[in-house]
Amino acid sequence: MDYTKFLSDRAQSLHGSLGKQTSVPIPGLINLGSGTPDFVPPAFVFEALEKAVRERKIQYTAWTGIPELRAAIAEKLKQENNLTIDPANQIIVTAGAQEALMTTLMALLDPGDEVLTPSPHYDEYTRDAKVLGATLVPVNTTPESNFTIHVPDLEAAITPKTRALIVLTPNNPTGTVLPESTLSAIADLAQRRDLLVISDEIYEYYVFDNHKHISIGSLPGMAERTITINSFSKSFALTGMRLGYIAAPAPLIEAMLPFHHAMMICANVMTQYAGLAVLQEPRDWFQQHLKEYDRRRKLWMQTLDAIPLPYSQPQGAYYIFIDIRPTGLTSAQFCAKAREEARLVFQPGTIGGGAGEGFIRGALTKASPEFDEGLERFTAFINALLKR
Ligand SMILES: Cc1ncc(COP(=O)(O)O)c(C=O)c1O
Repeated sequence: MDYTKFLSDRAQSLHGSLGKQTSVPIPGLINLGSGTPDFVPPAFVFEALEKAVRERKIQYTAWTGIPELRAAIAEKLKQENNLTIDPANQIIVTAGAQEALMTTLMALLDPGDEVLTPSPHYDEYTRDAKVLGATLVPVNTTPESNFTIHVPDLEAAITPKTRALIVLTPNNPTGTVLPESTLSAIADLAQRRDLLVISDEIYEYYVFDNHKHISIGSLPGMAERTITINSFSKSFALTGMRLGYIAAPAPLIEAMLPFHHAMMICANVMTQYAGLAVLQEPRDWFQQHLKEYDRRRKLWMQTLDAIPLPYSQPQGAYYIFIDIRPTGLTSAQFCAKAREEARLVFQPGTIGGGAGEGFIRGALTKASPEFDEGLERFTAFINALLKR
């Protein structure tokens, strides 16, 4: 058997256009679309990590994570998210939200099953369902509604094979924050049609203007059918620590545990101690970073208004979804041209489904002065494209 061909055909069919990750830095390239926060959390996080090493915390923990961290997560969920979670049997500490999502979908989906999500959406959802032989069904949203889901469209996409809905607010890539009225309508739908809700809340701390993050699991009747997923990656700029969690009804947690064990056994013990320190200390230090991200958000908006180029209102997360349709290029063509001609990197809006065609994902994750230079280059690039 030609295993090289077998594996490359299989990777192509499962992962499609994901392509290879390149690690070679290209001089002069400014990534204005990156999903990695650029700030460094306070020293106490690193001290907790070092202490764990000094104390030789190097063995497996309980599959679900160290009890102190589960207790701290339950307390956080109570204080900040209005969720009542028993730390003894309703939490699994995971290797980031990514593993949490995969563990959840492995437990829920049989081949042929479907899971719905408003689109544009986080691109990984598609592959996660696909490797399980299941299907992520994207339900398109539109620029006219600032990419806010029209809940009857979700209902129309339900089939006998639909098991769950994934709700992502604040959204990657659109920056949309779902208002309480929309979340209530989704909650009502989930209860009427007996669906589970997977709530990916990884960007919960990034909300701007008067927008508020609401956990759908806190709405009436939702505690028993919501799987809340979160992580330390985005809120605390700890993406490489690979630390996240699932909070869900106890029987669901029990069903998920073998899948979590199959992939991880347990989350990294040292980062669990760092995560514990993060949750035990006051988290007001985050506010200065949020303020800086808001400054960059406003600069992005001023830049786009001055060109002018339309965009979707960035309400949350750290993205800005830019409408490049006036250039006449597709999202993929625009990104390729921006890279080649202006040395700027963006994500095509289509990475999370076809509803993002004509848009690109910009981000707030680059610091000045590179950020300012990136915006200047962007303006010059667009003006040349529009031949002004
Ligand atoms: C919406 C969303 N969910 C989950 C993840 C995965 O995050 P983690 O680093 O916690 O695995 C990401 C990462 O970009 C994301 O954007």
